[in-house]
Amino acid sequence: MDAVSTPIYILAIESSCDETAAAIVRDGEELVSSVVASQIATHQPYGGVVPELASREHLRNIIPVVRGALEQSGRTLADVDALAVTRGPGLAGALLVGVSFAKAMAYAVDKPLIAVNHLEGHIHAVLLEQRQNGNHDLRFPVLALVVSGGHTHLYLAEQGFDAERPEAWRYRNVGHTRDDAAGEAFDKVAKLLGLGYPGGPIIDRLARHGNSRAVPFTISQMKHRDRNDRGKPTPAGPQFDFSYSGIKTAVLRHVELNNLFSQIEERRQALLDIAKPTTEDYLRVCDQPTVDLIASFQRAVVTDVVQKTLAAAEEYGARTLLVTGGVAANSALREAFENQAPKRGVDVHFPSRVMSTDNAAMIAAAAYPKFIAREFAPLDLSAEANLPLK
Ligand code: KG4
Ligand code: ZN
Repeated sequence: MDAVSTPIYILAIESSCDETAAAIVRDGEELVSSVVASQIATHQPYGGVVPELASREHLRNIIPVVRGALEQSGRTLADVDALAVTRGPGLAGALLVGVSFAKAMAYAVDKPLIAVNHLEGHIHAVLLEQRQNGNHDLRFPVLALVVSGGHTHLYLAEQGFDAERPEAWRYRNVGHTRDDAAGEAFDKVAKLLGLGYPGGPIIDRLARHGNSRAVPFTISQMKHRDRNDRGKPTPAGPQFDFSYSGIKTAVLRHVELNNLFSQIEERRQALLDIAKPTTEDYLRVCDQPTVDLIASFQRAVVTDVVQKTLAAAEEYGARTLLVTGGVAANSALREAFENQAPKRGVDVHFPSRVMSTDNAAMIAAAAYPKFIAREFAPLDLSAEANLPLK
């Protein structure tokens, strides 16, 4: 096919949650430009993402962000081969901003539009960076763990199953969270302890200073099929499901039993006065038992994520594990996977920290095989808040 002999530049837009992002990637393997406008400051006072505010901020940011990605790349829209956009899953109103904008732009400049699943984007964040670093050999079967604020999902990722479209990827879900995602648990526990939003990075930094064995937390183990899956066909193989709402309640119970509420309120107030708290600032407002509690919480979640993922890798004979999504930035999680996966003969790859959290480069990278396979979206494409990955 002609298209593959010349470099293909894809401009992608991502607006599924609280980052407005645009990026240009060449051939799914070279990051040309990437701009991310974070809305953390907007949502911080509320301790979590407020969907209406997210949509409003996306509307405000989308034009400067797309313009920024084009300027950074030194290209114009005319030099771009296709546009890509996150179709879902995510916040309906937030997705709608990106999808409407991308459709209008594709129509105006007469370029094909490619719809990408956000979770597929997270998986391709790792693949993009692997290829950029010269690693083109991926040992299959590949198991991908997408662990973020909205997901704790395991997928078997396959390529080359269709001779007509050898570049195409497909995915089979072999595990998901029954309730809260791992990142959500980090965020909710941080909020409960008066630490602010988003909680993951704060807990990550504080946990290094605590005794992770101080509080013995246990994580619920799923023995039965997910009730929400009733009526759906029985999965082909075993499922490795997660559940993190119980540990959030256990932390709350610990707070109640130890009467920590006034201390937490003091901490919250003290942190409100600091524009950008450093690790030292956080440590100053947390006594040692609190830091130990944080470390124990993190250890429980990380141990559970790692154990279940490695059990799934073993069950499905995975030779490569891709760990991606915001929580993949967690130091303890990375260390545990890096220590344990190679011992089981599994290669493990992560995205860099900036590519772990939401960005548009991952969307452009996931769009590239679809471009080669000519999988273009119709111009009546709609956003889908619950879009499954297949
Ligand atoms: O992928 P992402 O940017 O957005 C979603 O698609 O959800 O992930 C954001 C999530 C938040 O829950 C945040 O607290 C978590 O990733 N996160 C972390 C770390 N950095 C971000 N969790 C644990 N440790 C971190 N270092
Ligand atoms: Zn994400």
